[in-house]
Amino acid sequence: MFEGLKPLPQDPILQLMQTFRDDPRDDKIDLGIGVYKDDSGNTPIMAAVHEAERRLLEQEVTKSYVGPAGSAGFNQAIADLVLGADNALIRDQRVSVVQTPGGCGALRMAAEFLRLCHSDTTVWVSTPTWGNHLPLLGGAGLAIREYPYLDRQTLQVDFDGMMGALEQASAGDVVLLHGCCHNPSGADLTFDQWQQVTDLMLRKGLLPFVDMAYQGLGDGLDADAAGLRHVASRVPEMVVASSCSKNFGLYRERTGALMLIGETADAQKAATSQLLSVIRSHYSMPPAHGAAIVETILGDEGLRSQWQGELNGMCERILHLRHAFATALAPAGDFGFIARQRGMFSFLGVAPEQVRQLREEFGIYMLDSSRVNVAGLNDQLMPRVAEAIRSVL
Ligand code: LMR
Repeated sequence: MFEGLKPLPQDPILQLMQTFRDDPRDDKIDLGIGVYKDDSGNTPIMAAVHEAERRLLEQEVTKSYVGPAGSAGFNQAIADLVLGADNALIRDQRVSVVQTPGGCGALRMAAEFLRLCHSDTTVWVSTPTWGNHLPLLGGAGLAIREYPYLDRQTLQVDFDGMMGALEQASAGDVVLLHGCCHNPSGADLTFDQWQQVTDLMLRKGLLPFVDMAYQGLGDGLDADAAGLRHVASRVPEMVVASSCSKNFGLYRERTGALMLIGETADAQKAATSQLLSVIRSHYSMPPAHGAAIVETILGDEGLRSQWQGELNGMCERILHLRHAFATALAPAGDFGFIARQRGMFSFLGVAPEQVRQLREEFGIYMLDSSRVNVAGLNDQLMPRVAEAIRSVL
């Protein structure tokens, strides 16, 4: 059965993570995979997460199945976090949330669900987008088309190009948008642009599908969700994939959620029953632990404010690093876009050959596309990284 199979190359992000781990140099620097690091270069467990785990260990009384939708308490907490607790859509029962194995699980289950709705569904994705979007969505059988998103010269959003391409979309097509902290470019839509895209999607009958993987790491929890909330307030139907990997630091616990917004409460209930059947036939039920941590934190005033303080600290640190990085690179050119962009990532705009040189000669790791994880920097590393980059430019 397996004899005819050829070995496949690894996903580039995971391959880079492995190459970095295998590099014996003590002074290597990881600006590759999107994982937050503190000033000492560690990815710590948040104190609020530690405390929630301690309570869970004491209080948990069963490991019995959670069911395909996961925990109702977690799902409600995510609806509140993403949409805002006082959102009329929640009151009107137009929203359902199911707990998923990470943001990836949410993206894939959304894709399977959308394919079930229409077997010939096309989803429009930004160019560039996160590398795993294509296999996650395409693997479910969705046709993929791309809309230009980034002007490679200015490294800013090519909004005219984006809108021009989406004018070509047909009614019923799906538009994948990054809720905030665009991965890989860090270039986000302004609120005015969110409004214009919403108008276009309404006029053309397109379904918005928002991937919210970095809420709280751009400008804060509510500010980062403002575009998404605007879309939700205007459209009849919407899909949202969200992740707790980054904002709760729960990466390996695989904690995410998939939200459906229906035109009416009845439509939402019918759609959710279909989604639950899709989930049952894929992984049956999500893992419980990460979601239990999130539910514990968001359900307790003290823990919630502790978590929010820690998250704000991460967000401020990234903003500080963005400004410091742009300043450190200034002698080599205008890198001011790094300070203006948001979230973990920015493109440096250097060639793959220079990326290779940085990796091999200086032990500095970034994706071949020159995407850097700004959160992997710190004030001590900054001069060395900036000097190396300046020397290869
Ligand atoms: C990234 O973009 O580096 C992260 O989202 C991690 C991943 O799984 O690719």
